Amino acid sequence: MLRTEYGINTTEEWIVKRTGIEERRYSAPGVATSDLAVPAAEDAIRRAGITKKDIDMILFATLSPDSAFPGSGVYLQQKLGLCDGDDATFVPAMDIRNQCSGFLYSLATATSMVKSGAMKNVLVVGAETQSGAIDLSDRGRTVATLFGDGAGAVVVSATEEDRGVRGWYLGADGRHADALRAQVWDSRERPFIPLGEDGWGRVSPDHMYPKMDGKLVFRNAVERMIGVLMKACFDQNITRDDIDLFVFHQANMRINQYIADQIGAPEEKVLHNIQRYGNTTAATIPILLAEAELSGKLQRGMKVAMVAFGSGFTWGGAIVDW
Ligand code: UT7
Repeated sequence: MLRTEYGINTTEEWIVKRTGIEERRYSAPGVATSDLAVPAAEDAIRRAGITKKDIDMILFATLSPDSAFPGSGVYLQQKLGLCDGDDATFVPAMDIRNQCSGFLYSLATATSMVKSGAMKNVLVVGAETQSGAIDLSDRGRTVATLFGDGAGAVVVSATEEDRGVRGWYLGADGRHADALRAQVWDSRERPFIPLGEDGWGRVSPDHMYPKMDGKLVFRNAVERMIGVLMKACFDQNITRDDIDLFVFHQANMRINQYIADQIGAPEEKVLHNIQRYGNTTAATIPILLAEAELSGKLQRGMKVAMVAFGSGFTWGGAIVDW
């Protein structure tokens, strides 16, 4: 598609070999990130056996919100009908802007909210529309190769049962804030986006599109993801063999295969779907979970290790008894 539809100088062979990605999805013009989130949220609510009105809070992880502000969480709230009728709930809605680790930052926040007793059911969504914000030309081919649109969701609920999120582990290294970023505007400038003579804002391609130091991201991703997995195992007093399923962020198949090799995770315990979706940033882990549950690979009682790394740099991990 990148070559045939957009004329990008690339080959399927290069992309599959370096990233493992065979396909990616782009949503149609007119579809907002919050629109993508609606079916994912509805599906998660149905699978949780609750109704929309049981949701106490919305956490919306995204790097591609509907607009600069407000966040996509309030649009999702509106689109789910939570503001409608006499029993409108007007629950809090919060966006979490932590890119590829946004879902795990949100899961950690939801878990803390539930454990504090403040909330019973927190809807956690990861949704992205990357297709409108990547440089679909030769200049942007390295980044364009990787990213796709998508949405996934889970519900974090209070339970008396002996299961759930056992621990979460988050980290950040702001020294590398510029290694993967889309600047778009510069808040030091007045106005943030320079105006042309016609009074319209002008954004140069250099600011408009994401830029990435791919090799630096790759190296740090491997190191941090292995580190967070080790910390999680140590903290939970478990070993690699106690983990039934490894749910890694889907950024590059090579990153995940390298991590699996290093920690000795058996192939059948490591989930992948990057072949079909590419990197959907905050949505990769909830999409993987939803698919794995549907296919039966993820079952009640399994111990699941989730881990992600991305722009910031930020990273996160969680151990969940499903
Ligand atoms: O969630 C976090 C998000 N990001 C990541 O996790 C990305 C981590 N990094 C990576 O996955 C890899 O660095 C990439 C897949 C992005 C790139 O792979 P690489 O092995 O680091 O390739 P490279 O950037 O060093 O490029 C190698 C060559 C270059 O050509 P020359 O200079 O050797 O002639 C590039 O111009 O491949 C060329 N190239 C391409 N060729 C065909 C770069 N992109 C493409 C492309 N198609 N799409």
